[in-house]
Amino acid sequence: MAHQGILRVFVNPVANFHLSRAVGAVQQDVRYRRPPSAGLIMIDATQAQLEYALQSICPPSAYVGARHIAPDDHLALSLGESAALAGAVASVRNASGAARTVAKALLGDLGAVVDGLPRAPAGFPIWPEGFVGSLSHTRGVAAAVVARRDSFDCLGIDIEDPEEIEADLARLIVRKDEQWAIRDGLLSIRQVFSVKEAVFKALYPHDRVMLDFHDVFLDFESSHATTQYGAVVNWRSVRTEAIFSIAWRLRSCEY
Ligand SMILES: CC(C)(COP(=O)(O)OP(=O)(O)OC[C@H]1O[C@@H](n2cnc3c(N)ncnc32)[C@H](O)[C@@H]1OP(=O)(O)O)[C@@H](O)C(=O)NCCC(=O)NCCS
Repeated sequence: MAHQGILRVFVNPVANFHLSRAVGAVQQDVRYRRPPSAGLIMIDATQAQLEYALQSICPPSAYVGARHIAPDDHLALSLGESAALAGAVASVRNASGAARTVAKALLGDLGAVVDGLPRAPAGFPIWPEGFVGSLSHTRGVAAAVVARRDSFDCLGIDIEDPEEIEADLARLIVRKDEQWAIRDGLLSIRQVFSVKEAVFKALYPHDRVMLDFHDVFLDFESSHATTQYGAVVNWRSVRTEAIFSIAWRLRSCEY
């Protein structure tokens, strides 16, 4: 069996209620590859569901984690990170702080020394030398995925609230050659949106090419995504009461 990705669930008792609303019950389309790892902190049913969901889509040897966003999460921002968000509202500062808390802990697990995760002018986080990763946050949950750059070319993560996108807007997101997968119920429109966001977040820091939704073609059999300029990445997505998607490319180019 392939080595699975490493997962950490970050528990904030104060915000458990928000997490249970944001994540909720795992649906049947989640495939469990292994039981939750032992030793995580105070796993209750909801956190176990979050762990299952993230673990089920985490690529081998990447580290993924999530926490529910708390009102004081902005305090985790370093001075530089905080200054970059000076004009942002409290919810944005808290979400950014929560995602960076997760990312820094995962980087620590990987042996990286991290002062901060500053933003590039284009908005993506700048990772310590030798590492690659991605951040995402939604109303209640923040997540990060990180890995060593000697194994991974690029990584992207996206979380979305589960509300379905209106059918009228579907044509902006779903290509004609992908519509069968929506009809057959393989993915929801919102999941296709989420996967393409994860693909963009993986590739943009690497290739610096802006992408529209129709510039990304999802192959639902191979779970590869191909861009209009020929880049190919893997993707996985899972839907609980929130949607999580991860996209990545290994350095070895083994898909
Ligand atoms: C970057 C983008 C995808 C972020 O998506 P989002 O749903 O608004 O927000 P998320 O919570 O998922 O992600 C936010 C994080 O993405 C990261 N990010 C921002 N710009 C990024 C970029 N150009 N590349 C990679 N990551 C980026 C940041 O870490 C940010 O968190 P932070 O502000 O706390 O540091 C979006 O703002 C964007 O620029 N979209 C244009 C391209 C696109 O979406 N095309 C359609 C899909 S192909």
